[in-house]
Amino acid sequence: MDTLDAILTRVSQGKLVEPAPDAAALAAAFACALRAPDHRVLRPWRYLVLRGDALRQLGEVFVDASRAANPDLDANDVERLRKMPLRAPLIVVAVTVHKPDPKVPDEELLLSTGAAVQNFMLALHAQGFATMWRTGLLAKAPLVRAALGLSGEESISGFIYAGTAAAEPRRIVPLPIGEYVSEWQG
Ligand SMILES: Cc1cc2nc3c(=O)[nH]c(=O)nc-3n(C[C@H](O)[C@H](O)[C@H](O)COP(=O)(O)O)c2cc1C
Repeated sequence: MDTLDAILTRVSQGKLVEPAPDAAALAAAFACALRAPDHRVLRPWRYLVLRGDALRQLGEVFVDASRAANPDLDANDVERLRKMPLRAPLIVVAVTVHKPDPKVPDEELLLSTGAAVQNFMLALHAQGFATMWRTGLLAKAPLVRAALGLSGEESISGFIYAGTAAAEPRRIVPLPIGEYVSEWQG
């Protein structure tokens, strides 16, 4: 698949199943993530790979974190939270490392992580796998941060669900370029 095809045909897939990306596909995708543009080469990112029992453990962390915010969760909520990480056979947690730098504002570290995540997802798509980038309130929950071992200078930029698409991809309706692009002529 060439680069333009990969970009234009990638779609998020909410339900992902085995096979998960194999070691070679994952290594190639991380190599692409690590080629993200990065002002002053701060390397403001790191990644955690979760699969198997780690996904079940993350589900328990999601339950505990949600209960800490809302002690009145009902049984349906608990079950939904517990199953959330099981929507894919593999999750990559994209972590932004908020390294202070006199010339690089903090938002550029998030932008670099965003570029890295897109590289990662495109690389998996080009190799026949599918992904979905998720965040939500749980990405900021203190219990989730602590369970995943984040330091005070780190944040979760995404839970990247990855695997094989369980359904046909959504039909892509291209946006009209003219609505988003204009010439600036001074
Ligand atoms: C930073 C970020 C966080 C996101 N978090 C969620 C999320 O928590 N839940 C969700 O349903 N979609 C989330 N999305 C959107 C989907 O990943 C996806 O991009 C969107 O559904 C559009 O589908 P497409 O990627 O096929 O165009 C997020 C996207 C970004 C960039």
